[in-house]
Formats: sequence, structure tokens, C-alpha cells
Amino acid sequence: MNCWKVKKLQAQNFRNLGKDVFEFSPGINCIFGQNGNGKTNLLEAVHLLTNKKSFRKNTGYSQMINIEGASPELIIQSVFENDDDQSSYSIRMSEGLEERYFNNVFEKSKTPSTSVFINPFDSYSFHTSSTFRRQWFDSHLSLIDKEFKQVLGRFQKAIRFRNSVLGMGGKNTSSQLRAIDEQIAEYSSLLTQKRFEFLQELNQHITPTFRAIFAEEHRLQLDLDSMFVHWDAKKVFDFYRHQEMNDIKAQITQVGIHRDDFIFSFDGLNAFEFCSLGQQKMAFLSLIFAYIELFRYKFTSYPIVLIDDVSGELDSQRWKNLIQYLETKKFQVLITTANESFREELERIPESKKFFIKHGKLI
Ligand SMILES: Nc1ncnc2c1ncn2[C@@H]1O[C@H](COP(=O)(O)OP(=O)(O)O)[C@@H](O)[C@H]1O
Ligand SMILES: [Mg+2]
Repeated sequence: MNCWKVKKLQAQNFRNLGKDVFEFSPGINCIFGQNGNGKTNLLEAVHLLTNKKSFRKNTGYSQMINIEGASPELIIQSVFENDDDQSSYSIRMSEGLEERYFNNVFEKSKTPSTSVFINPFDSYSFHTSSTFRRQWFDSHLSLIDKEFKQVLGRFQKAIRFRNSVLGMGGKNTSSQLRAIDEQIAEYSSLLTQKRFEFLQELNQHITPTFRAIFAEEHRLQLDLDSMFVHWDAKKVFDFYRHQEMNDIKAQITQVGIHRDDFIFSFDGLNAFEFCSLGQQKMAFLSLIFAYIELFRYKFTSYPIVLIDDVSGELDSQRWKNLIQYLETKKFQVLITTANESFREELERIPESKKFFIKHGKLI
């Protein structure tokens, strides 16, 4: 398997990072430092290179440009390599402008690799918020299915337009809705089918991944909580006709796949209702690593794995399990912690590279 990995990275005017050149190992990279020193910023720089956006919500150029920097241009230069090749790759951003270069040649869309970002704290949001779950599944499915990403974008735009038509009201509302709903019905049918298939594929990996990491036997399963599963476009369109008067009265699209949810079960029971916080976190981590296996299955290469803020709820044995799991894997990992005992655990990994960051600089 030949995966592109980040070998070198240098940022300029990116948040609080200095101009140090980070030279990464193709295996596990541990990033240490106290709170607020730039560990997450370093992961964000890698994510911006590989996924063309931050993992932080509502974050663009104006949040990422160094607020104390003299220049309005943000630059990240990098070198990526796989077993037999090496490429330079850089990004330049200024207000309203974003350019990317592969080996100094302008590049419109391609990136050298993809990153998967893991923040174990997200486990809580994942288990408690359906909006978070939906966004998690949609963004991760988008990473591996370009058609899903495209159609999801069109669907969201169509729903916004439908809601604005409903909001304005008027005597033409009904005929306007029919025109929009033809599209919404097509998109809904396709997106639901893809979400359904995605869960089926994840389900093949999730229980074995849980066993591989934590050496415990539990049955984990994801299900789509949606009335639209296996509905064709005509059935969705007819449903919206039936729903029309209610929506006109409420002035909003009340039902649709934009409100669908996912159920995560642990030994047949709802993980959020029955699992301890630690078990929820184990289940959430297994889901992400199952996704990473699915990614490899689809693209015959691993993504870069960014694990941020390793601390909380999991006991030290479970973290040892996770670290041992990472050691057996062929993907590149950048893992951060501010916690001293996890730091000791990570420092024991023989082949790993360690970085200490203070005020955005390597020490
Ligand atoms: N645009 C910016 N310019 C300069 N510094 C920034 C910018 N955005 C965030 N920071 C600083 O980055 C620090 C947070 O970095 P972060 O990587 O999240 O820390 P941690 O090491 O805890 O992960 C804060 O001190 C914050 O002030
Ligand atoms: Mg952080």
C-alpha cells in the first residue's frame, strides 16, 4: 500500500505558528505542549492542506491569518512523500484569494492526501446531538463519495430556497413548490440510498475494529433513522404533495432527509442511553477507525490521521490499547496531548517522533 504522507511543513502567518520547519515521521508523531500553544493549529495546517478547509466550524482565512503578523498573506509549504515519490505542495491565501501549487505548478482541485480528524471530546456531541451526527456522517461520506458531496450541496441549496418560498408565501407558492420538489425528491432518494449503503459498509468494519482496539467482544451497529429508506423520487415527491398544506402553514419544510438521524447501538441497546461515557468514547473511536478502514478499502491507501487532545474519560488501559492499535497500523498519525500521563505513554512508543510546541514554536 502506497500512502502519501506529510514529510515537511512550514507555515507563515498561520495562526500562532512560527516559521519552524516540522519534519514528520511516516509513522506516529506526538505533539506535546501546554494548552493554547499551537498543537491543534499544527493539525489544522495539515488538514487545510489535505482537505482544503479547517476542521473548526465557520473558519476561513480571516480566522486563520496571524492576527499579529505584518503580512496579509498566509502560506503553508509542505513536502509529501510515498514509497517511491515526493512532491512539494503549498497553499497561499489572502483576502478573497486561495491558490494551491503542486511542484510549483498551479493546481485547482487535487490534494496530495486526505486527513481524518479525531477529537475524542466530539464523542459527547456525537452521542447527544442529532445535528452533530448528521454533519459527521455527511462530511465523512462526502470525503469518500464525490457524487454524494455534490448532490448534498444541491439538496441543501434547494431546501433553503424552498424555505424562502414558504417564508414569503403568496398565491403561487404551491406551483413554485412543485418545481422545487421535483429536484428535492431526486436528491432525497439518491442521498438516502447512499447514506444507507455507507452505514452498511461501516457496519462491516465497526465491530471488528472495536475488538482490534479494545480486545473486547461487543456488537456495534449503526442504523439510519429515516422514513425515506428505499423510497424512489416519485414516492418522495408524492409525500411532499401530501405535506404541502402543512408546510405552507408552518412556513418551513418540516419533514425531510435534512432531519434524518442515525442510531448507534451497542449490544443491541442505544449507545447514548445505555453506555457509560467511557464506552461511548470507545464506540465513537471505533466508528472513526472503522471509517479509516473503509477509506483504505475504497482507495487502497490510508488517510493521514489527526488525533487531537488525547485525554478524559478513557482509563489508561484503554489508551494503551489505542496506542498499541496505532502502532500496528500503516497510516501516518499526528497525535496531540497536554496531559502528562498520556505524554509518558506516548513517549514510550519506540518508533515515534516527538515535538514540543511552546507559543507556536518548536522547542
Ligand atoms: N489567527 C490567529 N493569530 C494568532 N494567534 C492565534 C490565531 N488564532 C488562534 N491563535 C492562538 O493560538 C492559540 C491556540 O492554539 P491551539 O493550537 O488551539 O492550542 P493547543 O496547543 O491547546 O491545541 C491561542 O493562544 C490563540 O490565541
Ligand atoms: Mg488543542
